Amino acid sequence: MKVILDMDPGHDDALAILLVLAHPELEVVAITCCAGNAPLHRTVMNARVVLEVVGHQDVPVAKGLPAPLLRPLQTAPEVHGATGLDGPVPPEPSVPPVGEHAVRLLARLLLESDETVTLIPTGPLTNIAAALRMHPRISSNIERIVLMGGAVGEGNVTPSAEFNIWVDPEAAAVVFEAGVPITMVGLDVTHQALLYDRDLECIRRMGTRVSTFACELLEFYSRFHRGRYGWEVGPVHDACAVAEVLRPGIVQTRDMYVAVETSGVHTRGRTVCDVLGVTGERANAAVGLAIDRDAFVELLLEALASYR
Ligand code: BDR
Ligand code: CA
Repeated sequence: MKVILDMDPGHDDALAILLVLAHPELEVVAITCCAGNAPLHRTVMNARVVLEVVGHQDVPVAKGLPAPLLRPLQTAPEVHGATGLDGPVPPEPSVPPVGEHAVRLLARLLLESDETVTLIPTGPLTNIAAALRMHPRISSNIERIVLMGGAVGEGNVTPSAEFNIWVDPEAAAVVFEAGVPITMVGLDVTHQALLYDRDLECIRRMGTRVSTFACELLEFYSRFHRGRYGWEVGPVHDACAVAEVLRPGIVQTRDMYVAVETSGVHTRGRTVCDVLGVTGERANAAVGLAIDRDAFVELLLEALASYR
Protein backbone atom coordinates (compact mmCIF):
# COMPACT_ATOMS: atom_id res chain seq x y z
CA MET A 1 0.00 0.00 0.00
CA LYS A 2 1.35 3.42 -0.94
CA VAL A 3 1.20 6.19 1.63
CA ILE A 4 2.19 9.85 1.76
CA LEU A 5 2.89 11.48 5.13
CA ASP A 6 2.10 15.19 5.31
CA MET A 7 3.46 16.45 8.61
CA ASP A 8 5.11 19.01 10.87
CA PRO A 9 7.71 17.05 12.86
CA GLY A 10 7.35 17.35 15.92
CA HIS A 11 8.11 14.58 18.41
CA ASP A 12 4.99 12.50 17.79
CA ASP A 13 5.30 13.01 14.01
CA ALA A 14 8.85 11.63 14.35
CA LEU A 15 7.52 8.57 16.17
CA ALA A 16 4.93 8.19 13.41
CA ILE A 17 7.77 8.08 10.85
CA LEU A 18 9.61 5.45 12.91
CA LEU A 19 6.42 3.36 13.12
CA VAL A 20 5.62 3.47 9.43
CA LEU A 21 9.14 2.80 8.18
CA ALA A 22 9.38 -0.34 10.30
CA HIS A 23 6.63 -1.77 8.09
CA PRO A 24 7.81 -2.40 4.53
CA GLU A 25 4.27 -3.45 3.54
CA LEU A 26 3.59 0.29 3.49
CA GLU A 27 5.54 2.15 0.83
CA VAL A 28 6.19 5.74 1.95
CA VAL A 29 6.36 7.50 -1.40
CA ALA A 30 7.04 10.94 0.11
CA ILE A 31 7.03 13.04 3.24
CA THR A 32 5.57 16.45 2.51
CA CYS A 33 6.12 19.04 5.20
CA CYS A 34 3.84 21.75 6.47
CA ALA A 35 4.41 24.44 9.07
CA GLY A 36 2.85 23.76 12.47
CA ASN A 37 4.73 22.60 15.52
CA ALA A 38 7.64 24.70 14.24
CA PRO A 39 8.30 26.93 11.21
CA LEU A 40 8.56 25.16 7.87
CA HIS A 41 12.36 25.17 7.58
CA ARG A 42 12.52 23.35 10.92
CA THR A 43 9.86 20.74 10.13
CA VAL A 44 11.64 19.95 6.84
CA MET A 45 14.96 19.63 8.67
CA ASN A 46 13.35 17.45 11.35
CA ALA A 47 11.84 15.04 8.81
CA ARG A 48 15.29 14.68 7.23
CA VAL A 49 16.90 14.13 10.64
CA VAL A 50 14.53 11.24 11.39
CA LEU A 51 15.20 9.66 7.99
CA GLU A 52 18.92 9.99 8.62
CA VAL A 53 18.62 8.25 11.99
CA VAL A 54 16.84 5.26 10.44
CA GLY A 55 18.90 5.23 7.23
CA HIS A 56 15.90 5.88 4.95
CA GLN A 57 17.36 8.82 3.06
CA ASP A 58 15.67 7.39 -0.05
CA VAL A 59 12.28 8.82 1.01
CA PRO A 60 11.79 12.21 -0.69
CA VAL A 61 11.09 15.14 1.64
CA ALA A 62 9.40 18.21 0.16
CA LYS A 63 8.79 21.71 1.50
CA GLY A 64 5.19 22.80 1.53
CA LEU A 65 3.43 26.05 2.30
CA PRO A 66 5.13 28.15 4.98
CA ALA A 67 1.95 29.41 6.65
CA PRO A 68 -1.76 28.59 6.95
CA LEU A 69 -4.01 29.53 4.01
CA LEU A 70 -5.37 32.73 5.56
CA ARG A 71 -3.73 33.26 8.93
CA PRO A 72 -0.35 33.86 10.49
CA LEU A 73 1.41 30.72 11.67
CA GLN A 74 1.19 29.70 15.34
CA THR A 75 3.74 27.15 16.51
CA ALA A 76 4.06 24.99 19.64
CA PRO A 77 7.52 25.52 21.20
CA GLU A 78 6.07 24.83 24.66
CA VAL A 79 5.53 21.21 23.57
CA HIS A 80 8.27 20.58 21.01
CA GLY A 81 10.97 23.10 21.93
CA ALA A 82 12.48 25.81 19.76
CA THR A 83 13.64 23.41 17.04
CA GLY A 84 10.38 21.46 16.95
CA LEU A 85 12.38 18.35 17.85
CA ASP A 86 14.26 19.25 21.01
CA GLY A 87 15.93 16.50 23.00
CA PRO A 88 18.33 14.37 20.99
CA VAL A 89 21.47 15.75 19.35
CA PRO A 90 20.42 15.49 15.70
CA PRO A 91 22.68 14.03 13.01
CA GLU A 92 23.41 16.19 9.96
CA PRO A 93 21.07 15.02 7.18
CA SER A 94 23.02 13.76 4.16
CA VAL A 95 20.27 14.31 1.56
CA PRO A 96 18.67 17.67 0.73
CA PRO A 97 14.93 18.14 0.36
CA VAL A 98 13.61 17.68 -3.18
CA GLY A 99 13.27 20.81 -5.31
CA GLU A 100 9.62 20.21 -6.19
CA HIS A 101 7.04 21.99 -4.02
CA ALA A 102 5.17 19.66 -1.67
CA VAL A 103 1.75 20.57 -3.11
CA ARG A 104 2.95 19.81 -6.63
CA LEU A 105 4.69 16.62 -5.54
CA LEU A 106 1.56 15.43 -3.75
CA ALA A 107 -0.53 16.04 -6.84
CA ARG A 108 1.97 14.50 -9.25
CA LEU A 109 2.49 11.35 -7.18
CA LEU A 110 -1.26 10.88 -6.87
CA LEU A 111 -1.98 11.50 -10.55
CA GLU A 112 0.88 9.30 -11.75
CA SER A 113 0.11 6.41 -9.43
CA ASP A 114 -1.57 3.38 -10.96
CA GLU A 115 -3.03 2.51 -7.56
CA THR A 116 -4.77 4.59 -4.96
CA VAL A 117 -2.65 6.23 -2.27
CA THR A 118 -3.47 6.72 1.42
CA LEU A 119 -2.68 10.16 2.83
CA ILE A 120 -1.65 10.42 6.49
CA PRO A 121 -1.66 14.09 7.50
CA THR A 122 -0.43 14.70 11.03
CA GLY A 123 -0.06 18.47 10.99
CA PRO A 124 -2.18 21.43 9.88
CA LEU A 125 -3.98 20.55 6.63
CA THR A 126 -2.57 23.45 4.59
CA ASN A 127 -0.79 21.39 1.92
CA ILE A 128 -3.58 18.85 1.55
CA ALA A 129 -6.21 21.58 1.12
CA ALA A 130 -4.08 23.40 -1.44
CA ALA A 131 -3.50 20.18 -3.38
CA LEU A 132 -7.23 19.36 -3.40
CA ARG A 133 -8.14 22.87 -4.56
CA MET A 134 -5.41 23.22 -7.19
CA HIS A 135 -5.62 19.67 -8.53
CA PRO A 136 -9.18 18.43 -7.91
CA ARG A 137 -8.57 15.34 -10.05
CA ILE A 138 -6.36 13.88 -7.30
CA SER A 139 -9.46 13.01 -5.24
CA SER A 140 -10.16 9.89 -7.25
CA ASN A 141 -6.68 8.53 -6.54
CA ILE A 142 -6.87 9.02 -2.79
CA GLU A 143 -7.69 5.73 -1.05
CA ARG A 144 -8.51 7.56 2.15
CA ILE A 145 -7.18 10.34 4.35
CA VAL A 146 -6.35 9.16 7.85
CA LEU A 147 -5.60 12.36 9.69
CA MET A 148 -4.55 13.21 13.22
CA GLY A 149 -6.57 16.21 14.21
CA GLY A 150 -9.72 17.47 15.81
CA ALA A 151 -11.75 16.24 18.76
CA VAL A 152 -15.32 15.31 19.53
CA GLY A 153 -14.72 16.46 23.08
CA GLU A 154 -12.30 18.94 24.55
CA GLY A 155 -9.47 20.64 22.68
CA ASN A 156 -5.85 20.99 23.67
CA VAL A 157 -4.92 24.45 22.40
CA THR A 158 -8.21 26.07 23.37
CA PRO A 159 -11.08 24.47 25.27
CA SER A 160 -12.70 23.93 21.87
CA ALA A 161 -9.95 23.10 19.44
CA GLU A 162 -7.16 20.67 18.72
CA PHE A 163 -3.86 22.18 17.54
CA ASN A 164 -3.67 20.91 13.93
CA ILE A 165 -7.18 22.09 13.07
CA TRP A 166 -6.86 25.32 15.06
CA VAL A 167 -3.68 26.38 13.23
CA ASP A 168 -5.37 26.24 9.82
CA PRO A 169 -9.13 25.85 10.19
CA GLU A 170 -9.85 27.04 6.63
CA ALA A 171 -7.64 24.27 5.25
CA ALA A 172 -9.34 21.72 7.49
CA ALA A 173 -12.75 22.89 6.26
CA VAL A 174 -11.65 22.38 2.64
CA VAL A 175 -10.45 18.85 3.41
CA PHE A 176 -13.58 17.80 5.33
CA GLU A 177 -15.75 19.15 2.51
CA ALA A 178 -13.75 17.51 -0.30
CA GLY A 179 -15.84 14.35 -0.55
CA VAL A 180 -12.82 12.09 0.02
CA PRO A 181 -13.02 9.23 2.56
CA ILE A 182 -11.69 10.59 5.85
CA THR A 183 -10.82 8.89 9.10
CA MET A 184 -10.39 11.45 11.86
CA VAL A 185 -8.04 10.34 14.62
CA GLY A 186 -8.55 13.09 17.16
CA LEU A 187 -7.82 13.74 20.81
CA ASP A 188 -10.62 11.43 21.99
CA VAL A 189 -8.50 8.62 20.56
CA THR A 190 -4.98 9.81 21.17
CA HIS A 191 -5.56 10.71 24.81
CA GLN A 192 -6.36 7.01 25.35
CA ALA A 193 -3.07 5.97 23.76
CA LEU A 194 -0.77 7.09 26.56
CA LEU A 195 2.75 5.83 26.99
CA TYR A 196 3.87 5.15 30.55
CA ASP A 197 7.27 5.19 32.20
CA ARG A 198 7.43 1.38 31.91
CA ASP A 199 7.02 1.68 28.11
CA LEU A 200 9.81 4.25 28.00
CA GLU A 201 11.98 1.87 30.04
CA CYS A 202 11.32 -0.91 27.49
CA ILE A 203 12.46 1.40 24.71
CA ARG A 204 15.52 2.46 26.72
CA ARG A 205 16.55 -1.16 27.22
CA MET A 206 16.56 -1.82 23.45
CA GLY A 207 19.87 0.02 23.42
CA THR A 208 20.03 0.80 19.69
CA ARG A 209 20.67 4.10 17.94
CA VAL A 210 17.01 4.38 16.91
CA SER A 211 15.65 3.45 20.34
CA THR A 212 17.98 5.92 22.05
CA PHE A 213 16.80 8.62 19.65
CA ALA A 214 13.14 7.70 20.37
CA CYS A 215 13.83 7.72 24.10
CA GLU A 216 15.43 11.14 24.04
CA LEU A 217 12.49 12.46 22.02
CA LEU A 218 9.98 11.01 24.46
CA GLU A 219 11.86 12.27 27.52
CA PHE A 220 11.68 15.83 26.20
CA TYR A 221 8.07 15.44 25.03
CA SER A 222 6.97 14.05 28.39
CA ARG A 223 7.90 17.24 30.26
CA PHE A 224 4.98 19.17 28.81
CA HIS A 225 2.47 16.36 29.36
CA ARG A 226 3.66 15.62 32.88
CA GLY A 227 3.35 19.30 33.74
CA ARG A 228 -0.04 19.96 32.21
CA TYR A 229 -1.86 16.65 32.56
CA GLY A 230 0.16 14.68 35.13
CA TRP A 231 0.73 11.94 32.54
CA GLU A 232 3.92 9.88 32.78
CA VAL A 233 5.00 10.17 29.13
CA GLY A 234 1.92 11.18 27.20
CA PRO A 235 0.03 10.57 23.97
CA VAL A 236 1.96 9.85 20.78
CA HIS A 237 -0.87 11.43 18.80
CA ASP A 238 0.43 11.12 15.26
CA ALA A 239 1.55 7.51 15.54
CA CYS A 240 -2.11 6.62 16.22
CA ALA A 241 -3.03 7.65 12.66
CA VAL A 242 -0.27 5.44 11.26
CA ALA A 243 -1.43 2.59 13.51
CA GLU A 244 -4.92 2.83 12.02
CA VAL A 245 -3.46 2.49 8.52
CA LEU A 246 -1.29 -0.47 9.56
CA ARG A 247 -4.06 -2.19 11.54
CA PRO A 248 -7.42 -0.94 10.25
CA GLY A 249 -9.93 -1.11 13.07
CA ILE A 250 -7.42 -0.53 15.89
CA VAL A 251 -9.22 2.81 16.14
CA GLN A 252 -12.95 2.40 16.70
CA THR A 253 -14.89 4.89 14.62
CA ARG A 254 -18.40 6.07 13.93
CA ASP A 255 -19.49 7.72 10.69
CA MET A 256 -20.76 11.24 11.21
CA TYR A 257 -20.89 14.72 9.77
CA VAL A 258 -18.04 16.98 10.83
CA ALA A 259 -18.03 20.75 10.25
CA VAL A 260 -14.99 22.87 11.02
CA GLU A 261 -15.60 26.16 12.82
CA THR A 262 -13.65 28.90 11.05
CA SER A 263 -15.25 32.03 12.46
CA GLY A 264 -16.14 31.41 16.10
CA VAL A 265 -14.58 33.79 18.61
CA HIS A 266 -14.15 31.08 21.25
CA THR A 267 -14.49 28.04 19.02
CA ARG A 268 -12.17 28.65 16.08
CA GLY A 269 -10.85 25.33 14.83
CA ARG A 270 -13.41 23.20 16.58
CA THR A 271 -14.41 20.04 14.75
CA VAL A 272 -18.16 20.11 15.32
CA CYS A 273 -19.06 16.42 15.25
CA ASP A 274 -22.70 15.53 14.73
CA VAL A 275 -22.63 12.50 17.03
CA LEU A 276 -26.41 12.17 17.23
CA GLY A 277 -27.12 12.97 13.57
CA VAL A 278 -29.21 16.00 14.46
CA THR A 279 -28.16 18.09 11.45
CA GLY A 280 -29.41 15.60 8.91
CA GLU A 281 -26.18 16.17 6.97
CA ARG A 282 -24.58 13.19 5.30
CA ALA A 283 -21.58 11.74 7.17
CA ASN A 284 -18.26 12.97 5.78
CA ALA A 285 -15.87 11.21 8.16
CA ALA A 286 -15.31 8.09 10.19
CA VAL A 287 -14.59 9.71 13.53
CA GLY A 288 -12.34 7.91 15.97
CA LEU A 289 -13.82 7.42 19.43
CA ALA A 290 -11.52 4.85 21.02
CA ILE A 291 -8.33 2.87 20.46
CA ASP A 292 -7.02 -0.48 21.65
CA ARG A 293 -4.24 1.09 23.71
CA ASP A 294 -2.35 -2.12 24.47
CA ALA A 295 -2.35 -3.18 20.80
CA PHE A 296 -1.14 0.29 19.82
CA VAL A 297 1.72 0.33 22.31
CA GLU A 298 2.73 -3.20 21.31
CA LEU A 299 2.80 -2.14 17.65
CA LEU A 300 4.94 0.89 18.48
CA LEU A 301 7.40 -1.00 20.69
CA GLU A 302 7.72 -3.83 18.14
CA ALA A 303 8.45 -1.28 15.44
CA LEU A 304 11.18 0.38 17.52
CA ALA A 305 12.67 -3.01 18.42
CA SER A 306 12.85 -3.95 14.74
CA TYR A 307 15.58 -1.37 14.06
CA ARG A 308 19.04 -2.82 14.57
C1 BDR B 1 -1.09 17.48 17.31
O1 BDR B 1 -0.46 18.76 17.46
C2 BDR B 1 0.92 18.65 17.37
O2 BDR B 1 1.56 19.34 18.40
C3 BDR B 1 1.25 17.17 17.39
O3 BDR B 1 2.35 16.89 16.54
C4 BDR B 1 -0.01 16.51 16.89
O4 BDR B 1 -0.01 16.38 15.50
C5 BDR B 1 -1.79 17.14 18.60
O5 BDR B 1 -2.77 18.10 18.89
CA1 CA C 1 2.00 16.71 14.17
